[in-house]
Amino acid sequence: MAPHTATCSAPVNIAVVKYWGKRDVPLILPTNDSLSVTLDQDHLRSLTSAAADQAWPAGDRLWLNGVEESIGESGRLRTCIDELRRERRALEEKDSSLPKLSTFPLRICSENNFPTAAGLASSASGFAALVSSVSTLFELSSSVSVSELSRIARQGSGSACRSLFGGFVAWQGGEAADGSDSLAVEVAPREHWPELQALICVVSDAKKGTPSTAGMQRSVATSPLLAARIANVVPQRMDTMRKAIAARDFESFADATMQDSNNFHACCLDTSPPIFYMNDVSRAIVALVEELNRASRAAGSGAVAAYTYDAGPNAVLYAPKQNVPLILQLVRHYFPNADFDDTFNLLGAGANASHRGAQEAQPLPEALPQGFNAAVIPVHEAGAVRRLIHTQVGDGPRVLPASECLLNEQGEPIR
Ligand code: DP6
Repeated sequence: MAPHTATCSAPVNIAVVKYWGKRDVPLILPTNDSLSVTLDQDHLRSLTSAAADQAWPAGDRLWLNGVEESIGESGRLRTCIDELRRERRALEEKDSSLPKLSTFPLRICSENNFPTAAGLASSASGFAALVSSVSTLFELSSSVSVSELSRIARQGSGSACRSLFGGFVAWQGGEAADGSDSLAVEVAPREHWPELQALICVVSDAKKGTPSTAGMQRSVATSPLLAARIANVVPQRMDTMRKAIAARDFESFADATMQDSNNFHACCLDTSPPIFYMNDVSRAIVALVEELNRASRAAGSGAVAAYTYDAGPNAVLYAPKQNVPLILQLVRHYFPNADFDDTFNLLGAGANASHRGAQEAQPLPEALPQGFNAAVIPVHEAGAVRRLIHTQVGDGPRVLPASECLLNEQGEPIR
């Protein structure tokens, strides 16, 4: 008999109201609600196959980007797998005709379609794809809701719970000590605001930063500003953000997004010892976007773009679709030589045309708002922004056909 298999992909999400701090570390319960935008899996995704076969040697095994990782007896991976097995067992107890997949050895194989070197967090899409593929393998869709699956993914990595939905997603921090009410819910589907796009600026950074898991608990322990953020800043901001999204109000969305990113990084600076995620290039991008928005508003138009930064130096710029050509040209002027796969054919050389390596100096766009101060930042050295990724708001996890399976009949990676 062939093994039982399922293959799913799951998206990356980038928060506009940040999660930073846990009230319960083992259960991954946050100190505050958060809200994110799910990005398109056509451009950034984790792909995961799960398979089970009674005949395989006992024990679960897992491969990440071609390297076998130990699942261990405890820890985040084990918790997620145990929870999914428990749900499957409940189904099998109700219906004795079901194969006893909960007792079979499990094999899991996961790959990202973006290089880890891009410095993009992969734990969110990775755990979301793992939970999606194992729950599909276990046929849990009729007994376990997507929000309940997000509760499981949360225990892999907090931000992963938000990658179980497409569009605009809130992680309700919840109040229960056991975490039963700490889960993700859809705020709006991608179809609600499909014009919203993202340009990710991958910033060069040689040194390894403080991992978010350790950094956030240091902030919880030492930052009075984080305590104030949790009590007074986030509740109002969640409200503002929900309203901005409901009304597709980019002005308000942009202000709240940038304020929240700055507030989060201020809390990092307020941590003892301080944590620096943004670098000089990150700050130059802030100055550029602020000047662009200032000039645009002064000229009677609205904000052009909104920046946000996670636990690293990369900028994610959100903007309505029609503003992206201008933003792209500006970024390519001030940050020459960034690799760019042109997903939406903005440069006219074909969709997905690859622009790499030494490039001509890019001129300033002609369509700049009147009064824009071109001297706001200098033209940076080639490669200060290594890579640009243009994407858009996307859908939630997808179930893929068996032809996409990453595991062979023996439960080993195909490549
Ligand atoms: C700055 O979800 O990576 O990206 O729960 O410890 O795995 P763990 O942390 P993680 O933290 C993400 C923090 C953030 C903000 C956000 O995504 O909301």
